[in-house]
Amino acid sequence: MPPNPAHQAPEVAVLGPGSMPVTLATIDERHRAGEPIVMVTAYDYSSARAVDAAGVDLVLVGDSGAEMVLGYPSTVGVSTDEMLMLTRAVRRGLKTPFLISDLPFGSYEESSEQAVRTAVRFVREGGADAVKLERGHQASVERAGAIVAAGIPVMGHVGLTPQTSTALGGNRAQGRTAASAARIAGEMVALERAGCFAIVLEAVPAAVTEELMGLISVPVIGIGAGPATDGQVLVFHDLLGIRDGGGARFVQRYASLQQEMVTGVAAYARDVRERRYPAPEHCYTIDPDELAEFRRSLANLRASARQPSKP
Ligand code: KIV
Repeated sequence: MPPNPAHQAPEVAVLGPGSMPVTLATIDERHRAGEPIVMVTAYDYSSARAVDAAGVDLVLVGDSGAEMVLGYPSTVGVSTDEMLMLTRAVRRGLKTPFLISDLPFGSYEESSEQAVRTAVRFVREGGADAVKLERGHQASVERAGAIVAAGIPVMGHVGLTPQTSTALGGNRAQGRTAASAARIAGEMVALERAGCFAIVLEAVPAAVTEELMGLISVPVIGIGAGPATDGQVLVFHDLLGIRDGGGARFVQRYASLQQEMVTGVAAYARDVRERRYPAPEHCYTIDPDELAEFRRSLANLRASARQPSKP
């Protein structure tokens, strides 16, 4: 899917060095003021620098990084250590946005103790400000409550929850029946009661989202949930077109960087093969006298190398 020129931002809101870090209080203020909250994923230092300069509010080290940067077929294979490495890289690149890390599949389901232990690692070792966990069934709600009680802000995630997409029948929209929509509503309420500061709502019909809004008082950040949410999140690689294929129906592309990258690397390969690169301006110089002396020492070295070695 090519980028829609109407959605290409001609001006970028670049934040200066004086920009205040986004905190839970800032998010709350934005929400109360009815200002849309902007969230995006990042997985490394360079993407973190880019999203920071672009002035987003929330940055998620999503477990989508499993697919986007580590090449796994889904999110379930990524380990806590791998997610921590990505989180540390993003932390080093961020100054202003609030940093949330996904708890990977298998790192919080067993018990609340396990969930708190993993969340603490993301804060202490990764530098995350908060963690996100998927699903709103009873066990997830308990894990969220335990992490909040340990002093770590938690973001919930309901609707399509990719970590358990097999159980959901695939990566498909949720809430398309009254029962499924009602289940999502109940999960949102339960996660808010557990203390979540915000909830991601993924892949539900826009009309269902409209009904859900107002049900809870913390911000709802949508992805494939229509325009009614308090904010939006997109995967960095989706919005910039750094992947093969168009992605999900809800993805809007603002650039085609995969194509740009292929074009750039192909031009480099051509220049190397046709000996156009490197050109004189890419080369270091040496004082002519130093070069002459070096040539003499090389001649001596060659001459001595030709001498037969003594037994
Ligand atoms: O992992 C991820 O990128 C996410 C977003 C889709 C919200 O969870």
